[in-house]
Amino acid sequence: MNVVVLVSGRGSNLRAIFEAIDAGTCSAKIVGVVSDRKTAAALDLAAERDVPTRVVPLRKIDGRERWNEQLAEEVGMLGPDLVVLAGFMRVLGAPMLRRFPGRIINIHPALLPSFAGHDGPGDALEAGVRITGCTVHVVDAGVDTGPIIAQTAVPVLGDDTADTLHARIQVQEHRLLPRVIHQIAIGAIELDPLRVNTPVSDASRSLTVPDL
Ligand code: GRF
Repeated sequence: MNVVVLVSGRGSNLRAIFEAIDAGTCSAKIVGVVSDRKTAAALDLAAERDVPTRVVPLRKIDGRERWNEQLAEEVGMLGPDLVVLAGFMRVLGAPMLRRFPGRIINIHPALLPSFAGHDGPGDALEAGVRITGCTVHVVDAGVDTGPIIAQTAVPVLGDDTADTLHARIQVQEHRLLPRVIHQIAIGAIELDPLRVNTPVSDASRSLTVPDL
């Protein structure tokens, strides 16, 4: 299964996928890494492994629709079976969703549907929950709203800051994301493109998801 990974930052999840592939526990091939930021450290990780990289910045002058079209074009040229958002900090629009229907997944640092948005760990801390975690879900037109595929719980500790909590969540992300990619690759998780824009509860029922 050919995978294109979309990144905006550090790329620790990208590294985890590479390492799982190296270790033989994730049967996928990363055929490209695409970023909206040319300074994303994740691009260096890909380049070190001779994986093709592309940068598609969102420029005000072009607007979001055009950016989505450019992104869909660049990602499409890499020929993915699956698109993985691993720390990609932008919301995707219709051109991307239409081009890869039901074939885009995202990792989020909270137990969705709680704490969607850009600061899952900080929001969980602020709310005072004792358990949070990470979620892999199918991407739809909303912000972190698509059908949930898999989750791992992480306890919130008394002395946690948003950073220490996020670091412990990331340890679990690095296990969960490669595992889900592997399960999709071997057909144990089936993504149903027709159900992605339906409400979460209906769409979740349309996924075949084993225990991870
Ligand atoms: C992760 O915590 C992920 O859940 C969120 O962005 C962060 C990316 O981290 N969407 P990294 O760039 O993979 O280190």
